[in-house]
Amino acid sequence: MQVRNLIVGALLFSCTGHVNAQSLTLRVDNIDQIVDSMTLEEKVNLLVGRNDYLFGGYEKLDKAPRVMDSSISGFTQVIPRLGIPATGLADGPAGAVVVTRPDSKKNYYATGFPIGSLLACSWNTGLVETIGQAIGNEILEYGVDVVLAPGMNIHRSPLCGRNYEYFSEDPVLTGKIAAAYIRGVQSNSVGACPKHFAVNSQETNRTEVNEIVSQRALREIYLKGFEIAVKESHPWTIMSSYNRLNGPYTQENYELLTTVLRDEWGFDGIVMSDWIRLRNTAAQIHAGNDHLQPGEQKQVDDLLDKVKTNQLSVADIDICVKRMLNYIVKTPHFRGYKYSDNPNLKAHALLARQSAAEGMVLLKNDNGALPLRNVKKVALFGCTSYNFWAGGTGSGNVVKPYVVNMQQGLNNAEFETTGNLEELYNKYLDYQRAKNRCDHGKSQGYYGEEKDILEMPISKDCIVYQAKEADVAIFTIGRQAGEGNDRTIENDFNLSEVEQNLLSDFCNAFHALDKKVIVVLNVGGVVETASWKSLPDAILLAWQPGQEGGNSVVDVLLGKENPSGKLTMTFPITVMDHPSSRSFPLNGYKGQRGSAGRENIDYTLHKEGINIGYRYFNTVNRPVSYPFGYGLSYTEFSYDNSVVKATGEGFKASIRVKNSGKMAGRESVQLYVSAPAGGLEKPACELKAFAKTKLLQPGESEMLIFNVSDYDLASFDESIQSWVSAKGKYIVKFGASIEDIRGIGTYWLSKEFTKKANNVLKPTMSLNEPE
Ligand code: BGC
Repeated sequence: MQVRNLIVGALLFSCTGHVNAQSLTLRVDNIDQIVDSMTLEEKVNLLVGRNDYLFGGYEKLDKAPRVMDSSISGFTQVIPRLGIPATGLADGPAGAVVVTRPDSKKNYYATGFPIGSLLACSWNTGLVETIGQAIGNEILEYGVDVVLAPGMNIHRSPLCGRNYEYFSEDPVLTGKIAAAYIRGVQSNSVGACPKHFAVNSQETNRTEVNEIVSQRALREIYLKGFEIAVKESHPWTIMSSYNRLNGPYTQENYELLTTVLRDEWGFDGIVMSDWIRLRNTAAQIHAGNDHLQPGEQKQVDDLLDKVKTNQLSVADIDICVKRMLNYIVKTPHFRGYKYSDNPNLKAHALLARQSAAEGMVLLKNDNGALPLRNVKKVALFGCTSYNFWAGGTGSGNVVKPYVVNMQQGLNNAEFETTGNLEELYNKYLDYQRAKNRCDHGKSQGYYGEEKDILEMPISKDCIVYQAKEADVAIFTIGRQAGEGNDRTIENDFNLSEVEQNLLSDFCNAFHALDKKVIVVLNVGGVVETASWKSLPDAILLAWQPGQEGGNSVVDVLLGKENPSGKLTMTFPITVMDHPSSRSFPLNGYKGQRGSAGRENIDYTLHKEGINIGYRYFNTVNRPVSYPFGYGLSYTEFSYDNSVVKATGEGFKASIRVKNSGKMAGRESVQLYVSAPAGGLEKPACELKAFAKTKLLQPGESEMLIFNVSDYDLASFDESIQSWVSAKGKYIVKFGASIEDIRGIGTYWLSKEFTKKANNVLKPTMSLNEPE
């Protein structure tokens, strides 16, 4: 198509002998000319989304050619005179959005894939790339140009409501998984939009909170993942976050969006704002925030006014307009792609089912309780077994065609479930929904989805009866969370009293008859496990595994799929063990918006600096419930032949992994590095690379290879504003988890490595770095 545009353009040029404003239309090679020929109004319109409908008026949308429907999140402006099409932006990240067409009654569903946290726990970049491909394909075939994904903020606290969309507490893992996702999406010639840049670490007062972070923590933790993703996958777009960062909003921050993102990392796409109304448009455009979403007329007027009053230069506008045009010429709408509205949803459902099983984490499996054997009848407990959470809430909620719940998953695999429980739970769920509607006028959450329903107490008699009837108990514990709110400690991070009592009653009754109790965690974020994990026989962290969830869980319970997920975040003993809990809004949002001065609401001091997750727990030897990188398998793996070789600019490491057990399975290996003393104070070790085997048959082995550069080893030294790797001996550790190191090597760095960076993004308040 681009070739066709080039030919048409060349013909026009040769016929007329010059390019006049009438015949000039956008081509890949005439962007400068187009910018020269645009009026200021046209330029400014291109920088503002054409979404007045979101703010109450349809005028602009109706005037524009009806190229797509309004049931996606955003559009860029159409300029017919110059052949500039509108382009469409759709959420993400666990799949595309639902699309409806004005001329059709049909609903166009998208596949509900597993949430980001589950995908990351697969430690399988190949798998994540395949999911990205499928999501990109749905975007393309539904006539959309960019998917607003992946979400890649760091899990600073387990309480952040949107962690389910994000990958990990570790930036290297985050960056590599995000890069894989982006490569997959963009292999369809549609764009990805990693978000939210940067430090969108809490949902409480997310549009105003000022996140105060040290330059070191910023560089090493919060920006690192984005840096890796930008350098390794070249996203077409990036979304700047809502919050402020060390003072200004990220959307108005030149140092963030230009000095670091573009000058240091080489990002060459567009930055779009997260969805917000009028802010300081001149500051946004000057900072390099090329596009304002969702867009309202006030922003257009304001930009025009800012130019007239010399608060914004046309040169600044032109830079952003050029970038917008460079983006537009890559899009399917510019290419005139004829979308089918008919992606292969069946194949994608299968992919969702298989991938979910690969990212689930088997936390406990005493005496081989799983895979299930000699089980015909299941007592299926827990509201969430019947009201299963495929994904989280907010813009990350995919409107999927169906959700397979646990009961359906078990029935599909020809298990029987005790019918009386099904009836009881379904009646209770109906009652609770009706009650919610009665109490609040709706049973819905922030973005229209259902909220958690409080667990149903069950009498001991009933439980004893169930224990006689069934061969095994499965208790699904569910948690729902998402955009706009952070989680609470009580009844969310911690189990409720009802859940705790039920669990011990199930275990008493079933264990008395020598029958097992399996807990399935259908959650979007970390929950407390230390106080109760000794009770059940097995615990499967199923996450929110997408629309095929019930089938995926049962595939794992049955051993049709051997779980190979490992934690990409620490499961602490209590939430307060995380240093970030000292400065996180533990009680959620209270009070009026817009006031200033409330700690953790109007500003949040990242007092813990780089001591996020395992970097803290492992360094101070603080016990955890389940460590970073942990996850069981139905088989066993032995490691040997570990080798570390210097390459001149870092090292290459390798280790052989053998399936020494009895069932086919995959193993992921984590490469941690401990730095020599003498340089900056560093965590005891840090993840620098990881790899996963293919499906290994019993007895089969595979050599895994890891490449680490001297730059990858570096920490950020604020005193010289440089990345520095101290010279000396680095200990290279091959881990099955951070607490289970299976091989060790050394790497000698003979000369200190340094790389200068810009002295930018300084905190505006003093930070008490960790005691
Ligand atoms: C969210 C973004 C999302 C956008 C468009 C915002 O509220 O923070 O993640 O992409 O809405 O739906």
